[in-house]
Amino acid sequence: MSMEGRTCVITGSARGIGRGIAEHLGEEGANVVINYRSSEGAAHEAVEAIEDAGGQAITAQADVSVPEDVEHMREVCHEAFGPADVLVNNAGITADKQFTEMSRAEWDRVMDVNLGGMFNCTQTFYDDIWNADEGRLINISSVVGKQGNFGQANYATAKSGMFGFTRTIALEFAQGGSTANCVAPGFTRTDMVESVPDQVLERIIAGIPLERLAEVEDIAAVVRFLASRESSYITGEVIDVNGGMDL
Ligand code: NAI
Repeated sequence: MSMEGRTCVITGSARGIGRGIAEHLGEEGANVVINYRSSEGAAHEAVEAIEDAGGQAITAQADVSVPEDVEHMREVCHEAFGPADVLVNNAGITADKQFTEMSRAEWDRVMDVNLGGMFNCTQTFYDDIWNADEGRLINISSVVGKQGNFGQANYATAKSGMFGFTRTIALEFAQGGSTANCVAPGFTRTDMVESVPDQVLERIIAGIPLERLAEVEDIAAVVRFLASRESSYITGEVIDVNGGMDL
């Protein structure tokens, strides 16, 4: 198993893409930290699913936008498994409005969670990843960070901000042999797209060359590769997983 003995922290992993990533890494033998903000029941289900597949996992409650919570998550991780080898910054939120209607609070909240959360978690686990034998930082961005999207000025700004951050940390980590990359998923079948009206989804799918939404497994498989040692010569990249939306 390619992740045997590697400790992986995945933010927002009680459901959706984060959960898929956690399960894929757990199946490969990783020690998995399931981070959740409020979905305690779902987080425990994720742990059980990983344990049933023969892996090891624990839960760690933390709002990634709160530095003290993230520090607590680090303590929980260290106590159970030791320092992290892999951090996946996956937790993210949207607060969509056409820009003229968007409040400063809606802007700030999206920045606080999507970028502030990435700041807090990366800073807290920076030494772990730097000192790991081939540590990995993986930031979950979005196709929206590249293309923009009507009503998502806050979210698109946060998601494209991840690109510059990742490239910079990649340069810093390179001296220690660790890597940092972004994955930019296209529209993926999770709770986040559940609220999108069917008509809008049909229009979105019509614009995707592969003619379907992504499934969680499509994204998780790429993250599993980036988290493994097999990706050791890839750093500072944005890997698009979007069914050809850029073509
Ligand atoms: P989701 O809404 O199903 O899951 C997001 C998870 O993050 C949830 O478990 C939520 O509780 C957690 N979370 C939110 N705020 C948090 C906080 N402050 N602290 C800790 N956890 C928090 O969304 P989904 O679709 O699984 O998205 C995962 C990531 O993928 C997000 O960063 C999202 O922006 C990104 N993404 C999603 C796409 C999609 O179409 N579903 C497309 C491109 C990117």
